[in-house]
Amino acid sequence: MISLDRFLFSFVLLVFLVHLCDGRSHFESKVDLKIINGLDAGTDLNIHCKSKEDDLGAHVLGFEQFFEFHFKPNIWGTTLYFCRFWWNSESHWFDIYVQKRDLGRCDKQCWWWVRAAGPCLLNDTNGAYDICANWNVGGSSQEGTGNDTARIYNEIFGGQ
Ligand SMILES: *[C@@H]1O[C@H](CO)[C@@H](O)[C@H](O)[C@H]1NC(C)=O
Ligand SMILES: *[C@@H]1O[C@H](CO)[C@@H](O)[C@H](O)[C@H]1NC(C)=O
Repeated sequence: MISLDRFLFSFVLLVFLVHLCDGRSHFESKVDLKIINGLDAGTDLNIHCKSKEDDLGAHVLGFEQFFEFHFKPNIWGTTLYFCRFWWNSESHWFDIYVQKRDLGRCDKQCWWWVRAAGPCLLNDTNGAYDICANWNVGGSSQEGTGNDTARIYNEIFGGQ
């Protein structure tokens, strides 16, 4: 009888562990974020993206080239990545990922096609970049966390 109990206990434990390992993928769903230069043939796009914790560095993208990074949205729903975009004499800001804004519309793939008028997000339904946004106004954030985002922008980018 005792050995049967032990057998059952071990079996339940094994099932539990297998379930735990299997479920890991559900908790680890990462976002694949891609920024594509859609300006003009011959126009390089400079980008510099950051969050409070990560500096993703400055990058130069030729026409139709992309920069890609992956991250796991936090459990508080406050993940925010913002970028500066500049080319020729233009310079703009955009909140490239705002968890509260983007949850549900790009859970796995947030692919942005950057035009001069602003970036457009890939629409999963029709495969077109037709969800277009405006650049942030001034040096602050429209959809981030208001003054907090403005403060982070200033701290990190200063007078750039
Ligand atoms: C995505 O595309 C579908 C089909 O064209 C369209 O109905 C829908 O409004 C689009 N989504 C957004 C957020 O624009
Ligand atoms: C941002 O700061 C200004 C000045 O301190 C204040 O008037 C404004 O209400 C703040 N906005 C938000 C969204 O907190």
